[in-house]
Amino acid sequence: MVESNQRMHGTWASRWTFILAATGSAVGLGNIWKFPYIAGENGGGAFVLVYLLCILLLGVPVMMAEVMLGREGRMSPVNAMRFLTSRAGLHGWWNSIGWLGVIVGILILSYYAVIAGWALNYIFDMANGSLQGANGAAVSKHFGELLASPGRLMFWQTLFLILTMGVVIGGVTRGLGVAVRILMPVLFVVMVILLFYGASQGDFDAGLEFLFSFRTDRLTWAGVLEALGHAFFSLSLGMGAIMAYGAYMPAEAPIGKTVVTIAFFDTLVALMAGMVIFPIVFAIPGMAPDAGPSLMFQTLPVVFGNMPGGLFFGALFFVLVTIAAWSSSISLIEPAVAWLIESWGLNRIAANLLLGGIAWVLGIGTVLSFNAWQDKTLAGFTYFDALDFLTSSIMLPITGLLIAVFVGWKMAPPVVFAAMEDRMPRTLRLWYTLLRFMAPVAIGVIFVFGIYNKFF
Ligand code: TRP
Repeated sequence: MVESNQRMHGTWASRWTFILAATGSAVGLGNIWKFPYIAGENGGGAFVLVYLLCILLLGVPVMMAEVMLGREGRMSPVNAMRFLTSRAGLHGWWNSIGWLGVIVGILILSYYAVIAGWALNYIFDMANGSLQGANGAAVSKHFGELLASPGRLMFWQTLFLILTMGVVIGGVTRGLGVAVRILMPVLFVVMVILLFYGASQGDFDAGLEFLFSFRTDRLTWAGVLEALGHAFFSLSLGMGAIMAYGAYMPAEAPIGKTVVTIAFFDTLVALMAGMVIFPIVFAIPGMAPDAGPSLMFQTLPVVFGNMPGGLFFGALFFVLVTIAAWSSSISLIEPAVAWLIESWGLNRIAANLLLGGIAWVLGIGTVLSFNAWQDKTLAGFTYFDALDFLTSSIMLPITGLLIAVFVGWKMAPPVVFAAMEDRMPRTLRLWYTLLRFMAPVAIGVIFVFGIYNKFF
């Protein structure tokens, strides 16, 4: 089976390619676009702390479990779970870990492509000089015009989906593997440069104060649930992306160290994005840190439009946001692609076109929720809000919980320990304990309180 899988999908060239691919999956719009704005909406500091705890105590253990499941199963999440459940003699119900993953992946991709399209569009808006010298009001108007036009939004959404499919059609080794090796280091370097811009051009103290100081009064249970959901979202957990990537991982690589490395980079980029954006927000009158999804698209352009060389840098910044989104979106579609190849006998091209098409159609709802359907809400949610909430705050925590219970309680401990192949038995024990006790209880409690608090 191991051999046939490798023939079918290919493998990573090395452990480092896996790390870069998984980091590429993890670092995306979630870090640069979503993390700063949800931190802003939830009051900053206290939310950030809860988020960090969620990454460390829940995200990392579940990620280790997910990588292990993928490497043991050696197939797309659906078939890997089918193999692992039947090998352990468990009820077929557990296969839902794989199923849910594939479905959530396409749902997320559908709106992810729309937002990534905004970034793609901004590359050109920056480069063509139309935002030169723009103030806050002008940039808001500019952004509002983009959102008001379904045609423009769909143009960029379509282009982004084509970019995504282009890489995934190239396969694991040549398509996915090659891209991430170059793009990730570049992304990181430019973040560092932007950090210096933020510090010199913006109100760095106010930004840091906002991001790191405690305002527990703004933090609700719904916010804690959002932090948990976002920890899973940011690490790409709970939908088989990491499981699928784990299936292409060399058998002897130590899982614990690898996962900690990925989580470290992911968190670093999220915090750096916050440290770039908030100092800039506070430096410009009339810009609110809790502006929501538009935060990145309305604040940064103002600064870029008024800095020496800012247009070039602004264009570069949005190139990098696009790249980050791109290396993530390929991981959203890959699990489903691998499954269609294995189980339906489709080739890579057909599988991509089919799934990309589904994501495209579903994405139209997101496009319209910024204009024509803006006022069509259900319990206060637009289509986009509902999809975002359903996927990150509900489905990802649920699959995360299922993974923790499956590996912690359902798989035989010797099988689990053999599969981890880590050379640190002490830390492995700690991991196992966190996974068995901490993860199910914490996820369960946060989930129940969060949902209650959100709706009642
Ligand atoms: N982690 C990515 C981000 O932060 C998004 C993403 C990619 C994702 N693959 C995923 C989220 C799988 C959940 C599951 O932008």
